[in-house]
Amino acid sequence: MTIIGISGSLRKNSFNSGLLRAAVAAVSPDTHLEIVSIRDIPLYDGDVEETSGVPPAVQQIKDRVASADGLLLATPEYNNSLPGVFKNAIDWMSRPPKDIPRVFADRPVALMGATPGMGGTLLAQSAWLPVFRTLQMRAWFGGRLQVSNARQSFDAQGNLTDEAIRERLKAFVSGFEGFIRKK
Ligand code: FNR
Repeated sequence: MTIIGISGSLRKNSFNSGLLRAAVAAVSPDTHLEIVSIRDIPLYDGDVEETSGVPPAVQQIKDRVASADGLLLATPEYNNSLPGVFKNAIDWMSRPPKDIPRVFADRPVALMGATPGMGGTLLAQSAWLPVFRTLQMRAWFGGRLQVSNARQSFDAQGNLTDEAIRERLKAFVSGFEGFIRKK
């Protein structure tokens, strides 16, 4: 099975990108977790869409998600909600609306997140739920991965160093794989 993983941070030493890299190693042998970057996605502009359509960087990610079995998002939390950079990427990917069934509808999706703060990205993860509902996705609620105090669990390059979290991550991705298989 193929799962597309997207980190909502552009930061080189991002905890969330590091968590996603650790997830690549944590999936089962028959699962391929492919990380795609949102770095090349421009800010959404309805005029651009009207004159030139969806930008190539957006089209590429849309096609990869559309052909995958599931989507795993690693979300930072900004101001007790989801990051605009990340939402912008999903907003572009939801255009044009006639493509939503192909790209998002009924697609299994799971959320995880890391923060140097205490809240474990709980509020950011909750803020994603109306977006999933609007895109008619199949959200997995069977597990949670909310990493608090991330500076203690990642090194300066954003690599996960905490074995207890690595074990939790394994259980988390395994649960999500099971959810996808049951589809
Ligand atoms: C933050 N951060 C943050 N953290 C948190 O737990 N709750 C929050 O509400 C916020 N708010 C917030 C706003 C803005 C604008 C920024 C830039 C940051 C801190 C955030 O968790 C921290 O920068 C992480 O390191 C971001 O994730 P990456 O880049 O490490 O993946």
